Amino acid sequence: IDPSLAKTPQMGWNSWNKYQCNVNETVIVNTANAMVSSGLKDLGYQYINIDDCWALHQRDNSTQRIIPDPEKFPNGIKGVADKVHALGLKLGIYSDAGTNTCAGYPGSYGYEQIDAQAFSDWGVDYLKYDNCNNLGLAGNASISSKRYKRMGDALKNVSRPIFFSLCSWGQDDVWDWGRSVGGQSWRMSGDISDHWSSVVSIIGQEVPIANISAPGGWNDMDMLEVGVYDQMTITEYTSHFSIWAAMKSPMILGNDITNMTSDIKNIITNKEVIAVSQDLLGESVKQRWVKGDTQLFAGPLSGQTYVALFLNEGNSTVTMTGTWSDIFNNKHANKQKPIAVRDLWTHTDLGKFRGSVSVSVEAHGVRMLRFSQQA
Ligand code: DGJ
Repeated sequence: IDPSLAKTPQMGWNSWNKYQCNVNETVIVNTANAMVSSGLKDLGYQYINIDDCWALHQRDNSTQRIIPDPEKFPNGIKGVADKVHALGLKLGIYSDAGTNTCAGYPGSYGYEQIDAQAFSDWGVDYLKYDNCNNLGLAGNASISSKRYKRMGDALKNVSRPIFFSLCSWGQDDVWDWGRSVGGQSWRMSGDISDHWSSVVSIIGQEVPIANISAPGGWNDMDMLEVGVYDQMTITEYTSHFSIWAAMKSPMILGNDITNMTSDIKNIITNKEVIAVSQDLLGESVKQRWVKGDTQLFAGPLSGQTYVALFLNEGNSTVTMTGTWSDIFNNKHANKQKPIAVRDLWTHTDLGKFRGSVSVSVEAHGVRMLRFSQQA
């Protein structure tokens, strides 16, 4: 396991949110092609991840390996990996730290080294490791972490670098031990759904642990729902994407990228927001205050710049003010200097401000601003 794989939160796509068990080679290869043709690859999205339901129910009798379902994957996982790699992308697979996956396919518990070796041989670059059917080996950090460490250790024994994504649902305070078992990201909540209430709930769960994410290991707020079933408004999807970026969550798309509206494409291709996600300082924004339905988040980026996120969870437009002591957390070098403020969604410079900035924020919306102290 190579820590340099997780210098910044991973970006890519996963089959689950849109396709659930209807995953197959056609879906994966079409998605990989669209990743390139839509320009998403050039923006940094690189993993194409197969989720649950790719295998047969029984392992191979002689090798004990998991067998890719030949109807879904007629060329095996290796065949898909070759096609994905030919496009300059990376392939992810899914297994489970239990006897079976959540959908009932073989899990890797007790077969960790066999499976890690198979994934490496097939050219897999990423493993999402779920938490179902875990034989009751959960309930405290020591028990759960041992189960995940078995696979972390197995991945260290294979030649191929494989990103290790723990899908541990925030159980047993995974953020305290995810890194030590070799994890490069760990789910900190239950499953996301394509609803604003789900986004709001996950943000609330992330706030108290936002200090944990750092280069090498990230709290995973779950896969993006932007454009998956259109159950959120464009404003809500914009907020969802902004917050995941600013909180340094993995940025794993879930929508059908072979067929997107321009509104959805505009959100997931916002270079300035992606630059916040991928900033090399790797520090999540922190909640500075809550006032009614509004919250201010802010934090440093590299190069003496800062980002602030003004979030309005309420149902009407409000004006929000962030003072420099709120935004820079009293750490800012020179309060007298005017600060240049840029809006990362309108892509405009708002001008230079002294002391504070006020913005109008629509219902369920955000304003995402970048601050740089000019010479
Ligand atoms: C539970 C995980 O949290 C989801 O992301 C997905 O992988 C499903 N299991 C698949 O069964």
